[in-house]
Amino acid sequence: MNGHRFDPARAERLNDPRRLEMLRPEAVWQAAGVPSPRAVVDVGAGTGLVTAAFARLAPDARFYAVDVSEDMLAFMRAHLPEDVAGRVTPVLGRGSAVPLPDEVADVVTMIGVYHEFDDTAAALSEARRLLADGGRLLVVDWKKGAHVPGFGPSEESRVAAEEIASGMRSAGFGDVEPHDLLERFSVLTGTRG
Ligand SMILES: C[S@@+](CC[C@H](N)C(=O)[O-])C[C@H]1O[C@@H](n2cnc3c(N)ncnc32)[C@H](O)[C@@H]1O
Repeated sequence: MNGHRFDPARAERLNDPRRLEMLRPEAVWQAAGVPSPRAVVDVGAGTGLVTAAFARLAPDARFYAVDVSEDMLAFMRAHLPEDVAGRVTPVLGRGSAVPLPDEVADVVTMIGVYHEFDDTAAALSEARRLLADGGRLLVVDWKKGAHVPGFGPSEESRVAAEEIASGMRSAGFGDVEPHDLLERFSVLTGTRG
């Protein structure tokens, strides 16, 4: 966690569909355990590649794709696949201050962004505010030591799964659970009590 943000000039690379083979959206979406949500907030949505994959798995949900970078949101608006674009609303905002109402979502997702937060406690507390009672937080981020040429953040910026879990508990999430699903990414879920 270092507040070092993904360079929007590399958005094409972030939108590379081969990332979905590593991230397996279907498997991680199932870990969230909310098959038919009304609304989902994807914090640090980037180009919307994973948001779109999740949106196909939850065809009745409205998705809010939040990112701190206006450049990234512009790329997202230009590239969101037609079949989901009508249900995905790009939102400019920081993970620690998302311009959406309290309890708007049944699921909040943070994919590959946790290590970029400059204030993880504030981002987790904001996720809690956005979730309805019983709502689920899904965090997926690069494991320490898992390297793929051309992809992923520096080793020193990565956050161990245990540290993410501890942050989630401190922010008031219950049932915090790691899922052994992906070779290169930690997957954690928690419930807003
Ligand atoms: C590595 S990209 C991951 C994008 C997307 N979740 C995916 O997996 O394709 C991280 C994204 O988080 C955004 N970001 C970084 N810090 C943020 C913050 N504090 N609040 C919201 N977005 C942030 C960056 O602009 C970038 O688009």
